[in-house]
Amino acid sequence: MAKSTPRKTRKSTIDTLRAVLAVHGQEHLLAFWDELDARQRDQLAEQIGQVDWELIAELIPTHVLAEPATKLPQEIQPPPILPYEPTDEAMRKRYAKARAAGEKLIGQGKVAAFVVAGGQGTRLGYDGPKGCLGVSPVQRKSLFALFAEQLLATHRRWGHAVPWYIMTSPANDKATRDYFKANRYFGLSKDDVMFFAQGTMPAIGTDGKLLLAEKDSLALSPNGHGGSLTALAASGALADMAQRGVETISYFQVDNPLVRCVDPLFIGLHHEAKAEMSAKALPKREPLEKLGNFCIVDGKTTVIEYSDMPEDLACATRPDGRLKFSAGSIAIHLFSRTFVERLTKGGRCSLPFHRAIKKVKHIDGAGKHIEPEQPNAVKLEMFVFDALPLAKKSVILETRRLEEFSPVKNATGADSLNTCLHDQVRRAAAWLTAAGHAVPRDAANEVACAIEISPLFALDAAELATRDLSGQVLEPGKPVYLGGE
Ligand code: UD1
Repeated sequence: MAKSTPRKTRKSTIDTLRAVLAVHGQEHLLAFWDELDARQRDQLAEQIGQVDWELIAELIPTHVLAEPATKLPQEIQPPPILPYEPTDEAMRKRYAKARAAGEKLIGQGKVAAFVVAGGQGTRLGYDGPKGCLGVSPVQRKSLFALFAEQLLATHRRWGHAVPWYIMTSPANDKATRDYFKANRYFGLSKDDVMFFAQGTMPAIGTDGKLLLAEKDSLALSPNGHGGSLTALAASGALADMAQRGVETISYFQVDNPLVRCVDPLFIGLHHEAKAEMSAKALPKREPLEKLGNFCIVDGKTTVIEYSDMPEDLACATRPDGRLKFSAGSIAIHLFSRTFVERLTKGGRCSLPFHRAIKKVKHIDGAGKHIEPEQPNAVKLEMFVFDALPLAKKSVILETRRLEEFSPVKNATGADSLNTCLHDQVRRAAAWLTAAGHAVPRDAANEVACAIEISPLFALDAAELATRDLSGQVLEPGKPVYLGGE
């Protein structure tokens, strides 16, 4: 690829590129061609060649030059949600049966873990791949290390390795792979950890012209976590799953260390219901919390993103005063493999694109670097939850914030490393208390020491209760780490 291209090929490359770009009014992308060396020309030609120009031509008039009309359907209802804990005897039986079925599927190797880690982490302001961020309260283990320990513990408990698929982006793929290599895959078998980069979309100026990041490269950004479905297919991950006998894909985001990567109950409920895509939900903290809203739209389970949900609907209440749309999406899903195969048949996935107006660094017509002070370009992303209404059947299971959700998204304030550390300690303390172990608290009833429970010590409160904790005396101010090999 870095080899110099023969003069004749170069000539035909530029002609082909010019012809393609002329059709779409984007010839300015070649403005600096004459200044580029062979390697730079190859890079630019490859990037231009990878753009889906038909798709871009469709999206510019609808999503860049105009805002797509978000037409809210007439009929929006709250969906049925399965409670966190069963509420009657029949449900208790159903949950017990589902949990056993989920455990069996894991033990048979029919479940894969899938983390989306291709985001740019702009809000966090962390330079490396977000998964490498140290987040655990005592040992500062990274997000990736914590997920790896869960998967190792799951393997030990149910007797089968859980293949782990990690979606990166072109920008962080190498750093992610190097990180795993340097850490010897955190004890997992290298053959059970698969990486692939997601697709990108070009940033498009508000005038409909694609932006150049440099003279030899387009301004590209990841195509959203919705791009994970096509990336699963294009990378060969789906084929690999089929070959391994994987039937269910357990999807989660890299930013949430509390997530149960592979949850037997959730998997069993999804499987028993013959669902194609399922989701976990949380009761929203307040009506306008920045979580997607679960709804039934025209008979289909749908997530309406917080930014698209009209305020009056987000705040609507039931006769008893409770929120009507109380269930928030925390981006924890299950997919049946065959559903993803069906959606991605033919290479394209028919998820809609969402537009976001952003400040995108670029070069101008004179080759000068511009750092815009105002949003200047449209980024186009697909959202994975838009696949939900395409599923023939779905299960939505409620979970608890304390147990399963505390993402690291921002550098400070809500959903930051600080709040996440605090929540990890609160969960560990709750598990210890449930196991009958004394946890020191301060006058405000906050846990008075940092506590970290490795997934290798206990995957959940029930497992912790089976552990010998007699030697563990917790004292205020003294960090405690409960680990395993
Ligand atoms: C997201 C959801 C929101 C949900 C919340 C829960 C969207 C649009 N909204 O919000 O409904 O309630 O999480 O935490 O997603 N990612 C990629 N590739 C991309 C873009 C993102 O892999 O191209 C990954 C990120 O690495 C991250 C996750 O997707 O793991 C979430 O992305 P982010 O942009 O942070 O979503 P939020 O706006 O926080």
